[in-house]
Amino acid sequence: MKDLPFDGAITKFYKDDAPRDIRDAIEASDKNDVLSASFPYRKRMDEKEYLDQLEKLQIELVKMLADIKATGKRVAIVFEGRDAAGKGGTIKRFRENLNPRVARLVALPAPSDRQKTEWYFQRYIPHLPAGGELVFFDRSWYNRAVVEHVFGFCTPDEREHFFAQVPEFEKMLVDEGIVLIKLWLNVGRAEQLRRFLKRENDPLKQWKVSWIDVEGLKRWDNYSAAIRDTFARSHTGPAPWTVIRADDKSRARLAAIRRVLTRVDYAGKNIDAVGAPDPRICGGPEIWD
Ligand code: ADP
Ligand code: MLT
Repeated sequence: MKDLPFDGAITKFYKDDAPRDIRDAIEASDKNDVLSASFPYRKRMDEKEYLDQLEKLQIELVKMLADIKATGKRVAIVFEGRDAAGKGGTIKRFRENLNPRVARLVALPAPSDRQKTEWYFQRYIPHLPAGGELVFFDRSWYNRAVVEHVFGFCTPDEREHFFAQVPEFEKMLVDEGIVLIKLWLNVGRAEQLRRFLKRENDPLKQWKVSWIDVEGLKRWDNYSAAIRDTFARSHTGPAPWTVIRADDKSRARLAAIRRVLTRVDYAGKNIDAVGAPDPRICGGPEIWD
């Protein structure tokens, strides 16, 4: 449940509390400007080029899903990233032309009181893919590593326990034959704030803003530290992280889809259409900043 409205809490943060350089970057920007200095392109990708490439990749996704169904593969894709990194929008582009029963979305709410007493991973397990399924996790067990930590929803001991278990947990999934792909969408601070401002002012998007987003604006550095820990403790051989620079949504979506198409074997793969993810946009934890 989102408690709305926030009476312009994001605009207020922007005006009164945002770091000067972040505000300046937003103020000076045109809508096609990319705001992060570390982003390898200054302008967003051309819309037509994006849509052309997306269509080619979506055709490959349709083939991939048919193969998953035909061969009984099990594929799980974890989408993580700060609020407004673009997880939901990326998943939407993946699923646009796929059968929703076979390519399922899992976006779990906060744990119930009963779930809080369970083994932390337990509530995710029923949602793992059966044979012939592709599951998209919009957020995942990594909540414990980042948001739960930043907001004190778990104790330091509980988080430590999570970090001790997560490599083994994921190794079990992979040993089991599940194709597990972990994508981290990395959004810069100015771009995140720009997206929140837009959401706050758009009646169709206000539902996406939660008190966690509002409060989280002040906790940027705590999030950064938590994310750094997460890569250090969970970037493993069997279950590595892919980091995608997400300040330009178009490039991020294309890179995410390409990454998945590259990782999953499927009949009829058109190598030329899949291409390779842009190495300036997509890499390992070393490209996160
Ligand atoms: P989202 O970004 O998924 O739209 P929010 O920004 O509101 O949602 O929350 C971020 C995450 O924190 C969600 O996965 C939510 O379930 C989780 N969360 C919120 N409150 C709690 C809580 N009390 N304990 C554990 N997790 C929580
Ligand atoms: C995202 O945009 O990353 C998520 O789907 C929604 C959010 O920001 O809470």
